[in-house]
Amino acid sequence: MKPAPGFILFLDEADSTQTMARQLAEQGAGPGTTVVARVQTAGRGRRGRSWISPEGSIATSIVLRPGCAAADAPRITLGAAAGLLDAFDRIGVPALVKWPNDVVIPCAEGPHGRLGPYRKVAGVLVEVVRMTDVLECALLGVGVNLRPPAQGWPEELRTVAGTLSDHGFTRSMEWVFPLVRNAVLQGVERSLTSFGEVLTVLRARSATLGRAVEVDDDGKVIRGFARGLRADGALVVENEDGATHEVRAGDVWIAPPNVSSDP
Ligand code: BTN
Repeated sequence: MKPAPGFILFLDEADSTQTMARQLAEQGAGPGTTVVARVQTAGRGRRGRSWISPEGSIATSIVLRPGCAAADAPRITLGAAAGLLDAFDRIGVPALVKWPNDVVIPCAEGPHGRLGPYRKVAGVLVEVVRMTDVLECALLGVGVNLRPPAQGWPEELRTVAGTLSDHGFTRSMEWVFPLVRNAVLQGVERSLTSFGEVLTVLRARSATLGRAVEVDDDGKVIRGFARGLRADGALVVENEDGATHEVRAGDVWIAPPNVSSDP
């Protein structure tokens, strides 16, 4: 069966919604086709990490057929992250983006982990299905933590994971999912047509800029200060010697609040 554009498949359980969405995309599913699961047993994060979605959180994957230049693919992650800010604004949860794909909320109380004074409430994972010099098909994966797992977060996530319930949000996944889906799709659209507007939002609502950071760029570690976002969305990091690096991928970790955020 070839799902119609905008078709939404609700599942009680999936290994990863990305895997299910990939199968639909390969069968020719139209843009906007969405898989959402109440529970994921093998959720995937960026850079080969696993993703734990507590039951009742949002785990969704949306088929995109952007038709943009392959070089513009990073705009999808950035646009979706900006879209999540819109969605969270509407439900009264003021959030920021930790470049490039994490949506975080401030958390003054320690102990602080690798996100410094922030906790991650949502993440974006874009996987390519078909790309030549044009990005023909990709999967937009979005995980949003609504509340903590019943058994608590695993040890390694305790200082980095947060949930919308930390901000008093108590509505169900079913209630908030349409808002999140629309917001990320609008964010991606805006990013592909008016990237400058998305950059303005990301510069104004950044958990990264002006902070002491450590970047792991495929094994190359850069320590310094996040100085800005380039017009193509790359992060500019100035190291202790004053040299600047343009970071296009990789992990960015934020120093705890006791480390000077700008010299
Ligand atoms: C990250 O922050 O590393 C990205 C997390 C993306 C998680 C979502 S949950 C829905 C979709 N299915 C997956 O297996 N991963 C993405």
